[in-house]
Amino acid sequence: TLVYVLNGPNLARLGLTEPGRDGRAAYPELVRVCQETAAELGLRAVVLQTDSEAELVGWLHRVAEEAAPLVLNPAAFTHCSYPVRDALALRRAPAIEVHLCNPYAREPFRRVSVLSDVVDGAVTGLGTDSYRLALHAVARLAGAGAR
Ligand code: DQA
Repeated sequence: TLVYVLNGPNLARLGLTEPGRDGRAAYPELVRVCQETAAELGLRAVVLQTDSEAELVGWLHRVAEEAAPLVLNPAAFTHCSYPVRDALALRRAPAIEVHLCNPYAREPFRRVSVLSDVVDGAVTGLGTDSYRLALHAVARLAGAGAR
């Protein structure tokens, strides 16, 4: 089974722009963690990153069409993108929101997620472990035939 791990703006620059802030790992390490965790769960992870809202919306349409499980780090789109939210709401399989950092420990605008009510759950603040745990959760939900 395929699981999508979609990442929003600036995440490919992880560890380059603000070392130590968004988790200790650089993006290639994050991709490796996702692929390795998915393999342990008997899944195949398609890990993608985009800085473009339109591209992310297109990927979310594909996820919906394929009824594929999803781990999504919408990055700053979390706090402001209704298009991303509406595209995510089309999903037909479990979806987990992830954040490397703890958004509640940062600027006030990060306390709001415009999409947390259209996901099954969220894992935040644990660096790459947020993705590990989210992949475990989504695999369980998908296996249980939830939704
Ligand atoms: C983030 C948190 C967002 O607030 C921020 O805009 C990001 C990264 C995280 O993974 O911690 O780009 O989604």
